[in-house]
Amino acid sequence: MTHTHNPGLSGQRSLALRSAALALQTLALLSLAACGGADSSGTTPATTDGSTGPDVTTAGPRQPANRAPVVSSANAAQTTTVGVTYNYDASKAGATFTDPDGDKLTYVLAISPANSGLTTAAAVISGTATTAGNYTVTITANDGKGGVASNVFTLTIAPAPVVRAPVLPATGFLYADASINLPRQFTTGAGNPSAADNTPANNLTSNAGATLGRVLFYDKRLSVNDTVSCGSCHVQSAGFSDPRRFSVGFQGGLTTRASMSLANARYYQNGKFFWDERAASAEAQVLVPIQNTTEMGNSLPQLVAKLSAVQFYGPLFTAAFGDPAITSDRISRALAQYVRAIVSYRSKYDSAFTNGVANFPATLTAQEEQGRQIFEGAGRCDTCHGSNAHVADAARNNGLDATVIDVGAGNGRFKSPSLRNIAVSAPYMHDGRFATLAEVVDHYDHGVQDSPNLAPQLRNPDGTVRRLNLTAAQKAALIAFLGTLTDNALLTDPKFSDPFPQ
Ligand code: HEC
Ligand code: HEC
Repeated sequence: MTHTHNPGLSGQRSLALRSAALALQTLALLSLAACGGADSSGTTPATTDGSTGPDVTTAGPRQPANRAPVVSSANAAQTTTVGVTYNYDASKAGATFTDPDGDKLTYVLAISPANSGLTTAAAVISGTATTAGNYTVTITANDGKGGVASNVFTLTIAPAPVVRAPVLPATGFLYADASINLPRQFTTGAGNPSAADNTPANNLTSNAGATLGRVLFYDKRLSVNDTVSCGSCHVQSAGFSDPRRFSVGFQGGLTTRASMSLANARYYQNGKFFWDERAASAEAQVLVPIQNTTEMGNSLPQLVAKLSAVQFYGPLFTAAFGDPAITSDRISRALAQYVRAIVSYRSKYDSAFTNGVANFPATLTAQEEQGRQIFEGAGRCDTCHGSNAHVADAARNNGLDATVIDVGAGNGRFKSPSLRNIAVSAPYMHDGRFATLAEVVDHYDHGVQDSPNLAPQLRNPDGTVRRLNLTAAQKAALIAFLGTLTDNALLTDPKFSDPFPQ
C-alpha cells in the first residue's frame, strides 16, 4: 500500500480508534479493489483522458495530448463522531492527485448518502456530523482541460457517546433533618445519639446537597479511568460496606484494610474518620479515596475539570450551592452531607420504641431479647458500641492481637463503625479477619488477646482478660439480637441507591 500516511488520525486519538480506522481502511481498499478500479498504487482513479486526439480537420501542428490527473496518494478511510466539529481536506493539500502535465487542479466532493450533516467546499469536508453511518466520499480532480480523476473513500460517522446521566425524581428525595423526622430515640431521652452528632454547623445536610452527594457517590467519573465509584466499595445492600475482604480499586489493586460500613457514621462523637481516625472530618475523609493511588487514582484539579464538562452537574451544583461552579470544596461538602444522611433508624430494634420509650420484650423474640440483655449486660458490648445508633465513642484496642500488627490509631486501637446492619456487612474488623458473626462472638467470648494496649472494658477488675464463657444458646441469642439492627428500609431506600442506569 502506498498511502500509509493518514492525516485524519492525529496522535491524540485513542489506539482503539486508530486500529478501528485501520481496519476500515483495509476494508475500503478491499472493496475498492473488488470494483476493478484499482490502479497499481492500490487507488481507484476513474480517469478520463480529455485529449481530442489527432486533429484531422486543420492543417496546423498537432497539439500534445492532454493527460488526465492521476491518484497519487489515495485517501484512507476516515472517521468522525456525531456532534464533533470535523474538518478534512480530501486533496491532502494537493497530494491526493498529481497531474502529469502540471495542470492546476480543481476539486469537487460528494458525500453519499447526503444526510451526514457535513458540508463540502472544493476539497474540504467540514461541519458537525448529525447522522451516524457509513458514507462514501468521492473527490474528483479536474485539470480544466477535460481530464478528470476521482478517489473514493469511506467516512464512518460514529454515534455520539452516551453520557451516563443519573435518573433523579422530579421532586427530589428528602435528606435534611427537618424533612425526615428522626424518631425520638434519636433526638431526645436516654440513649439518643444526638449529642454525638459530628455534623458541622457550616455543612448541614440539605436535600439538594445530599442529592448531589448521592450522584457523586455513585459516579464512576470520580475514578481516573471511570471504572470505580464510592458505591463500588460501599454497597447499599451490604450496609454500605464491601462483601469482599479487601476492596478492588480502579486498576484492580486491593485496599490494605476492609471497607467500612457507613450507616450512622454521623454519630461518631469525635468526628474522625477511617479505622485509624486519620481523617479529621467527613469533609476531609471523602476526598481521600478520590486521590488514593489504589482506590480511584484521581487528582482534585483533574476531577473538577472532568466534572465541569459534564452537563448534568451544573443544575445539581446550583441547587446545592447557589451557582454551577464546581470546586473540590463543594464536592467534599456534598459527599459528606450524603454520608451523614445515611442514618439507620428503621430497624426492628427501632420498632420497639414508641415516643422514645422502648418495650423490647413486646417487639423482639425471646431469643433476640435474651441477646439484647447479653449485649447490654454481661457482654458489655454497649460500653463500646453504645447509644441507639450503636456507634463507638473512640478508637480502642479490642484485643485482636497480642502483638500489634497494624498500629491503627496508635497501639492497635481502631475506630469501629456502627453495628447497624452488621448481619449483612461481613467480613468484620479492620482487616476483615472474621467471616461470620459467630467468629466475632467467639473472639469476645474467649479470644481476646492480652497486651498493655487492651481496652480496660475488656478486663476484669483484677486486670485479667475477661472471658464471657457464653453457652451455645447465649451466643446464638447475641447473634440474633445483632440481627435486629438490620435496617432493611435503609438498605433498599431508593434515595440511597445508584441513580445511574445500569
Ligand atoms: C476501592 C474501594 C473504595 C472506594 C472506591 C471508596 N472507599 Fe471508602 N473506604 C474504603 C476502605 C477500604 C475504607 C477503610 C480504609 C481505612 O480505614 O484505612 C473506607 C472508608 C471510608 C469511610 C470512613 C467511615 C468511617 O466511619 O470512618 C468513609 C466515610 C468512606 N470510605 C466514604 C467513601 C466515599 C465518599 C468514597 C467516594 C469518594 C469512597 N469511600 C470510595 C474503600 C473504598
Ligand atoms: C473495648 C471496646 C469494645 C467492646 C467492649 C466490644 N467491642 Fe466490638 N469492636 C470494638 C472495636 C475497637 C472494634 C474494631 C476493631 C478493629 O477492627 O480492629 C470492634 C468491632 C466489632 C465488630 C466488627 C465491626 C465491623 O464493622 O467490622 C463487631 C461485630 C463487634 N465489635 C461486636 C461486638 C460485640 C458483640 C461485643 C460484645 C460481646 C463487642 N463488640 C464488644 C470495640 C469493642
